[in-house]
Amino acid sequence: MQTVLQTNFNGIDGLELTQIDKPTLTANGVIVEMDLVPISPTDIKRESNPNATQEALAQLPRTIGYSGTGTVVAVGENRDQALRNRRVLVMHPTGSYSDYLVSENPDWLFPLPDAVDNKSATTLTATPYVLLDAIMNATAHGTDNIVITGANSVIGQYLLQLLAHEADFKAKVWPIVSPSSATYFEQQFPNQAHNTSTTLPQLNRAVIVDIAGSTALIEALLTHIAQPTIVSIALMHYQTTVPFQFVHEEFNAEQYRALIQQLATKQLTAPVGRIFPVTEIKHAQHFVQETHSRGRVLVSFH
Ligand SMILES: NC(=O)c1ccc[n+]([C@@H]2O[C@H](COP(=O)([O-])OP(=O)(O)OC[C@H]3O[C@@H](n4cnc5c(N)ncnc54)[C@H](OP(=O)(O)O)[C@@H]3O)[C@@H](O)[C@H]2O)c1
Repeated sequence: MQTVLQTNFNGIDGLELTQIDKPTLTANGVIVEMDLVPISPTDIKRESNPNATQEALAQLPRTIGYSGTGTVVAVGENRDQALRNRRVLVMHPTGSYSDYLVSENPDWLFPLPDAVDNKSATTLTATPYVLLDAIMNATAHGTDNIVITGANSVIGQYLLQLLAHEADFKAKVWPIVSPSSATYFEQQFPNQAHNTSTTLPQLNRAVIVDIAGSTALIEALLTHIAQPTIVSIALMHYQTTVPFQFVHEEFNAEQYRALIQQLATKQLTAPVGRIFPVTEIKHAQHFVQETHSRGRVLVSFH
């Protein structure tokens, strides 16, 4: 079967699409025939930097990818037999970019309702919940302005939608969007105003919720805020006198179930970007790296 391997830290062009043996079914496992897998900027960072994330992923070679969607085609004797033929979202930190994988952790397998297609489910990440928690914490401590960099990003779009459903949320949200992404953002959020680092008005207390990871952008925003704090998912370290916190996703199955449910009821809309065949994996990753964010780029195994 096909798999995409990282064998070095030479970046995107070091990836190899190669053939390995199909995995065998275990008593505690299900075999998932993969359909779609996502490309996130974090995946690309890991290919050139062994310390790009907090997880230890430096053991090479490894099949890339963390998650994806597909169909259960075989079920081990210790698992729920009703899973056979179900479409699923699967978390698979040991590598999801293969025609087939064996999933042995029931907490990492999410059967999909008919109302949620594979494309939408493949875009899911619980990282917006980490930022939502940080925002609710900041507002509980008196911050009433939320400045979001990279608001047109996949995570930014999920975060804005989750905030819109928060009943007790009263703070003012200031999405920051680069001029090249303004039209796209307006299509996605026709009723939501947005700013750039130059048009943001002078604010008193504000938390900068950093999704973009640009220190130059943060520096520019800081000149508009009297009492700032920063919470970032994109910068692990940032030298500053401003209170700064890096946050990251801790896997939480409940949050994935909630996201799937909200997609099913149309409370959330998935930002789906272009879909590339796995044979074009390098081209697809270059596309993600070199173009502005227009929804999650997906890779197809069919
Ligand atoms: N900590 C965690 O647990 C965790 C988990 C997942 C992801 N992440 C990180 O979160 C970030 C966002 O992920 P995503 O999947 O939502 O990304 P994405 O959809 O590709 O969006 C990236 C965003 O960053 C903006 N951006 C990039 N470089 C910029 C620059 N120099 N100046 C201004 N804006 C810039 C982009 O603006 P344009 O589109 O206008 O270029 C876009 O809005 C990534 O850095 C990723 O590695 C962290």
